[in-house]
Amino acid sequence: MIKKEYLIAPSILGADFSKLKEEILMLNETKAQWVHLDIMDQQFVPNLSFGPAVVKSIRPHTDLFFDVHLMVSNPFDLIKPFIEAGANGISFHIEASEPRFTFPPKILIGQIKKAGLKCGIALKPKTPISVLKKYLTLIDYVTLMSVEPGFGGQRFIESSLQKIQNLKSLLKEMNVEKQVKIQVDGGVITKNALHCIESGADILVVGSEIFQSKNPKDVIDNLISLQ
Ligand code: DX5
Ligand code: ZN
Repeated sequence: MIKKEYLIAPSILGADFSKLKEEILMLNETKAQWVHLDIMDQQFVPNLSFGPAVVKSIRPHTDLFFDVHLMVSNPFDLIKPFIEAGANGISFHIEASEPRFTFPPKILIGQIKKAGLKCGIALKPKTPISVLKKYLTLIDYVTLMSVEPGFGGQRFIESSLQKIQNLKSLLKEMNVEKQVKIQVDGGVITKNALHCIESGADILVVGSEIFQSKNPKDVIDNLISLQ
């Protein structure tokens, strides 16, 4: 069987914030390629995390790809500060662009891409993939949430596997399966990671399992050599 390429993106939401620099230096010694940075505003989700200042402070300690996941109700105002803080990719929630919120997705995509960053659209578990159709030719990745956004350490929603497969089919149908990657975020652990990959995921976000382990490097090593 041909091995499928995929990336591991440790989510520092699961880390001990009092030793963030050490955690980042630890990641430098692993084969993880992305760092997942969860931004929560206590409006779009019922939790508050950290802002651009924290991203800026860890930026000098690594060359890893910084993927900023904006779980906020006004992504527009935060894009520039996160670009300046050193983000390499930014994803925003399509649900935050609903009429009750502010900016159309195409404006956000334009703003992110114009700055030379990768752009992703994130989807809550109950949001159908059909809402992505209009944007799939414009973006680099889709972040499929496999838990309700807001907290690390939740249980993986099993129906997400089917959703990954459906998205993969849609990408093929639209002839964009090479340029648009599928990222799965929430409750991903060693036990279900291979299922995600086999369903079509390209990027696995893993928070608690890595950072709550006594041997985070071993967890990452295992996740990288699943196939
Ligand atoms: C949830 C976040 C996730 C979370 C993943 O709202 O978007 O990125 O940090 O952490 P685990 O792996 O603990 O579910
Ligand atoms: Zn996330």
